[in-house]
Amino acid sequence: MDTLKKRKLGKTELMVTELGLGAMDTPQVPEGEETLQLALDSGINFIDTARIHQDSEYLIGKVIRERANKDFYISTKTMQNERDAAQHDVDRSLRILGTDHIDLYHLGDVKESNWTQVMSEGGALEGLKIAQIRGLVSYIGLSSHDLITVERAIRSQEFDAVMVEYSAFYKDSTDLLELAASLDVGIIVMRPLGGSGRTSSMRTAQQQNEKYSGITAEMLLKYVLSNPNISVAIPGARYPSRISENVTVASSYTMLEKAEKNRIEFLASQLF
Ligand SMILES: NC(=O)c1ccc[n+]([C@@H]2O[C@H](COP(=O)([O-])OP(=O)(O)OC[C@H]3O[C@@H](n4cnc5c(N)ncnc54)[C@H](OP(=O)(O)O)[C@@H]3O)[C@@H](O)[C@H]2O)c1
Repeated sequence: MDTLKKRKLGKTELMVTELGLGAMDTPQVPEGEETLQLALDSGINFIDTARIHQDSEYLIGKVIRERANKDFYISTKTMQNERDAAQHDVDRSLRILGTDHIDLYHLGDVKESNWTQVMSEGGALEGLKIAQIRGLVSYIGLSSHDLITVERAIRSQEFDAVMVEYSAFYKDSTDLLELAASLDVGIIVMRPLGGSGRTSSMRTAQQQNEKYSGITAEMLLKYVLSNPNISVAIPGARYPSRISENVTVASSYTMLEKAEKNRIEFLASQLF
């Protein structure tokens, strides 16, 4: 079996495979369970989901119950703003996942508009901290599409990890990855391939033009993994073939030189 390299997730004790799985859309197709099983059989040890993607938590719970050992980490999220609602979400996740604790629980999709609320007394962060004291949650993270919020979260030192978008299509977060690494905050990269709209355009272009020489999923994954500041990239996948392809890339790539990164950024800029 190909061996995936591991990186330490910030200050936590979690050694995560640098290739994870974003399981948000995995349950959408009949092959979803096979996809998740293959990811785990291939050694991927970081699976990301969210309370809001109930079918995804449900699928992971089903697979946990079927496997002899739960030898992987689960990252999930609450979209709640208040303490009690966040605690309620933790309890619901535990029941659906069928585990006695969750490795990493995020405040999900935090924005400037709800930052103060989630961070204040009675806010959702307090709920996750109580769950942590109760031994239900090991580490606390924050995910956001808003870079001002990501920076606040990193500097606050309240979070073990942040989840942020980063890819050859989206480089705006590059400096924040460096900041997080300097403060030993773990970085989980969401949408590392640029999202399903772009990957579907890439596949169509490849199928329709045999001489296609544009951006590929392989280049995009190598681009993200070549950033030493990230802890784990979580490409989404519904189909088992994507897992095989991504595992092959992640277990055989070498860090890209700047010129190659520049070329990939250029090809990415040409997609649309
Ligand atoms: N916190 C948040 O607000 C938030 C928001 C968005 C995403 N996320 C997390 O980030 C994860 C990934 O995001 P995403 O799924 O939106 O974007 P993504 O990972 O950039 O792209 C996913 C797309 O790439 C395709 N793909 C995967 N491997 C491929 C390969 N080797 N070749 C060709 N296509 C490939 C997938 O195909 P198939 O699905 O067809 O197999 C899917 O359509 C999510 O699952 C979720 O865990 C979090």
